[in-house]
Amino acid sequence: MTRALTILGIETSCDETAAAVLRLEEGRATLLSDVIRTQLEEHAPYLGVVPEIAARAHAELADAVVAKAMAEAGIGYDALDGVAATAGPGLIGGVLVGLMTGKAVAQAAGIPFIPVNHLEGHALSPRLASDCPFPYLLLLVSGGHCQFLEVRGLGEYKRLGSTIDDAVGEAFDKVAKLMGLGFPGGPAVEQLAASGNPKAHDFPRPLLNRPGLEMSFAGLKSAVARVTEGAETDAAKADICASFQAAICDVLSEKSARALAGFDPSPNGKRFVVAGGVAANKAIRAALETAAAAQGAQLIAPPLRHCTDNAAMIALAGAERLAAGMLDGTDGLDAGSRPRWPLDEAAALSAPVYGGGHKGAKA
Ligand code: KG4
Ligand code: ZN
Repeated sequence: MTRALTILGIETSCDETAAAVLRLEEGRATLLSDVIRTQLEEHAPYLGVVPEIAARAHAELADAVVAKAMAEAGIGYDALDGVAATAGPGLIGGVLVGLMTGKAVAQAAGIPFIPVNHLEGHALSPRLASDCPFPYLLLLVSGGHCQFLEVRGLGEYKRLGSTIDDAVGEAFDKVAKLMGLGFPGGPAVEQLAASGNPKAHDFPRPLLNRPGLEMSFAGLKSAVARVTEGAETDAAKADICASFQAAICDVLSEKSARALAGFDPSPNGKRFVVAGGVAANKAIRAALETAAAAQGAQLIAPPLRHCTDNAAMIALAGAERLAAGMLDGTDGLDAGSRPRWPLDEAAALSAPVYGGGHKGAKA
């Protein structure tokens, strides 16, 4: 029998200040607390996340959010076996705040500090709630990330394809901005799309017919920009939203079908996990469900709270790493923050998909 581990997780890489306490016992995770303080209000006036505002807000909120997570868990710091915090990729000011907070708690409590890759947190997030053994195929779709990954085991990730420009959530946010729908754009676009005609505009499906799993959404956003000028009424906007969402659904379901067809897991079934904020979109979920079923795969989507940024997934990644003895012989206190940190470092070196751009780093 392995010893139960109790881990405090901290997440500050974008616009959520989050802390959670998780217990891992016999491979099963139980959440003792799960606190998420979103900064939506702080960023909404700017129609996007402003890195400086995020960093300042994380610095102001981190202590209180950690204290709340500990109080709700009902344990003292002496009951912790380790502290995990996101060390990247993300907005560097916020990452630094979480990293320093985590290191301070770990040092004061005399326990290991575990630096966690935010993308690994998302990759492991389905294991918070459902029985989701390795291996599985993951589609990570959020405001900053858009990629297919084969999750073979803890620390074993193969990138199969990603966007070559914007992330999907970013495209939703930009389209919403073009039409004055506020921030974040995804939920607003989805809501308007429900009453629109998805065939009203024939928007491009970039890279759809190109072999492979690379994706591109910047051209789609530009195509939308060309028709938004004259669209003043809600009905006209609804048609644009519905047509845009239909194009996204087509691209994601076709690429998912292709990824699943090439994914040959062990005989215990094909699992297809979709995570990230965009996984909240019901039309996209339905399209992925159909694509998965056609390939004999089961679609697993973590509950919405754990699809978007949260600290429970960071605590889980830390706990699984600690349980597996994957700390590289250090206590993590010398870990640095990494604004760019691909999960599949080999693929990133041999086939980098990004040039510049502040979103590209995360996506
Ligand atoms: O995972 P997340 O909370 O943060 C990042 O790591 O980016 O994802 C936020 C992104 C935003 O771009 C937001 O517009 C998008 O997810 N999103 C949606 C929906 N809800 C959130 N996109 C499409 N449809 C939705 N219902
Ligand atoms: Zn994220």
